[in-house]
Amino acid sequence: MFGLGRSKSAVGLDIGASSVKAVQIKRGRGGNELVRLGIAPLHPETIVDGVIMDSGTVISAIQQIFTENQIKTKDVVVAVSGHSVIVKKIRVAKMKPKELEEAIPFEAEQYVPYAVEDVNLDFQVLESTDPNANELDVLLVAVKKDIINDYLSIISTAGLNAVVVDVDAFALENAFELAYELDRQQVVGLVNLGAAVMNINILQDGMSEFTRDSPLGGNRYTESIQKMLGLSYEQAEALKLGGEVEGRSVQDAQPAIDMVNAEVAGEIRRSFDFFRSSSHSETIHRVILSGGCARLPGLVEYLSENLEIPFEVANPLLKIKADPKKFDPAYLEAIAPQLAVSVGLALREAGDK
Ligand SMILES: Nc1ncnc2c1ncn2[C@@H]1O[C@H](COP(=O)(O)OP(=O)(O)OP(=O)(O)O)[C@@H](O)[C@H]1O
Ligand SMILES: [Mg+2]
Repeated sequence: MFGLGRSKSAVGLDIGASSVKAVQIKRGRGGNELVRLGIAPLHPETIVDGVIMDSGTVISAIQQIFTENQIKTKDVVVAVSGHSVIVKKIRVAKMKPKELEEAIPFEAEQYVPYAVEDVNLDFQVLESTDPNANELDVLLVAVKKDIINDYLSIISTAGLNAVVVDVDAFALENAFELAYELDRQQVVGLVNLGAAVMNINILQDGMSEFTRDSPLGGNRYTESIQKMLGLSYEQAEALKLGGEVEGRSVQDAQPAIDMVNAEVAGEIRRSFDFFRSSSHSETIHRVILSGGCARLPGLVEYLSENLEIPFEVANPLLKIKADPKKFDPAYLEAIAPQLAVSVGLALREAGDK
């Protein structure tokens, strides 16, 4: 669970609120190479608040991707996110691994807002900077069982085999460790602004120090445009993506977009402030912005200025070769920010933690 297992060249399968994305990467001595890539859009009502409302549609989307892209591998790595996922760094008295395993469910009770029997628990002891410390830092992960079961049942009905269930925030970390060879001395923020969820993961000393998922994303932009301009959801979405609707263009939508930009900046600021107050670091050196919303014109500039930290648009494919005869480079470059989670999942075999 949660990436603690190993998998061999499995397909990274990111079931997002607005689309399913599948990525397969071949790892070899000559480096990593993209071998398969498929995306299938989902209707906004298919997955709501991280809960799969219409599993039939998700199963068809997965099957369509596998058929159209001739993906033969059955093993997949999937991820969960949202409020059913709790990731917390906790501190416990130093004890033997066996004792820790027994203690974790009791410890978890303090941190998990659900009954312990309703969640799947996993944990990882973090490497300590002080070998004489009499406490252990432990990364605790809890995910509601019903959410995991929904995902597993969809995967198996689609005829596939889930080898690892991971968490979006860790998949991002995995993708960007490879892409950017991140400097351990630097504090790096990873922000993934998707359609329904914003994942924030702050890395310190090369490890995840803070994670939070907030219900904010591209859908909020679309709803804001819809309300302000009196359009249908579909029209507002088209306008957001640069299209023209009833003689109106994205310029007319700018005030509605600006409002949500401010909301996103506020949410990131709250998380960053919390991180600063609870860690020994004042500075966040850089932020890598992924997810479809990273492509919103001006967002990276706005966030950099508002938060006074350099934000950059993520490219999780930076260190992954792709044959231009198989994959259109312009398309890959455009879609790359949205592939952060799926690439991180596809790379799981190297990043097992
Ligand atoms: N060029 C673009 N400009 C603005 N927004 C865009 C652009 N391309 C995609 N988006 C938006 O990005 C969102 C989709 O991003 P992404 O694929 O990262 O989300 P997801 O993984 O499906 O959702 P989630 O992670 O929330 O479950 C949609 O809201 C879409 O409208
Ligand atoms: Mg996503």
